[in-house]
Amino acid sequence: MRNEMMHRPVIDENILNFLRHQQQPLTGPLKQFEDEVHAQGVPVIPHETVNFFRVLLRILEPQAILEIGTAVGFSAIMMALSTPDTTKITTIDRYDEMIQAAQANFKRFELTQRIELLQGDAVDILPTLKPTYDFIFMDSAKSKYVTFLPRCLELLSKRGILLIDDIFQGGTVLQPLSTIKHRNHGIHKNLNKLFATVFNDPTLISSVLPLGDGLLLVTKK
Ligand SMILES: C[S@@+](CC[C@H](N)C(=O)[O-])C[C@H]1O[C@@H](n2cnc3c(N)ncnc32)[C@H](O)[C@@H]1O
Repeated sequence: MRNEMMHRPVIDENILNFLRHQQQPLTGPLKQFEDEVHAQGVPVIPHETVNFFRVLLRILEPQAILEIGTAVGFSAIMMALSTPDTTKITTIDRYDEMIQAAQANFKRFELTQRIELLQGDAVDILPTLKPTYDFIFMDSAKSKYVTFLPRCLELLSKRGILLIDDIFQGGTVLQPLSTIKHRNHGIHKNLNKLFATVFNDPTLISSVLPLGDGLLLVTKK
C-alpha cells in the first residue's frame, strides 16, 4: 500500500528536496525505522512532516494523543518519542497486516505501555472513545475525514489541535471534478467538503501547510 501522492510534490521540487533531505535527520533506532519503512514503501508521514510534528509536540506537550491510521506504527512511535513519558497515545487501524506489524514495532520500541492500538474501523471506534485528547492526528481514508470531523472536534480538548494529513491529492483537489479520474471522485468531493466545512465554521481556527501532501490544522476558538 503506497502513498502515490507523497511522490507528487505540491511545492517546488528544490524546496521539497531541501525540506525532505537537508533538514535535521532523525537519529538512532527511530532513524533506522524511518529508513526501513521508506524502503518497504509503507505510506508513512514524510520527513518534513516528522520535523514539524517534533517541534509542534514539544510546544504542545499533549497528555493524550489520538491517531486515526496506524499503519506499521511509525508516526505513533515518533509521537511517543517526541513527548513526555506520561503522554498516552491511542491509535486506530482496521487493516490486519498493518495491525500485526504495528504491534511488533511497539514491542520493539518498548512502548506498549504508552501506545494503545484499537483494532477496527474508526467509524465504529470513534463513538466509543471518551473526551478529551489534546492532539488528534487524522491519517486514514481521505474520503472519511469530513465524516470523522464532528466526532474528532467533540473529542478534542479546549486548546487541542486536530491535524489532518494528505489533503491535497497532489494538488488535484483544487481542479474541477470533470478532470478527476472517476475512482477518485469520492475523495475529491469529500476533501472539498472538508475545506468548506472547516473554513466556514466560525467556531474554528485553521491553517493549511504545504508539507507532504498537505496538512490541515484545526483548533477551537
Ligand atoms: C497513511 S497510513 C497511516 C500512516 C501512519 N500514520 C504513519 O505515518 O506512520 C493509513 C492507515 O489508515 C488505515 N485506515 C484507513 N481508513 C481507516 C478507517 N476508516 N478506520 C481505521 N483505519 C483506517 C489504513 O489501514 C492504513 O494503515
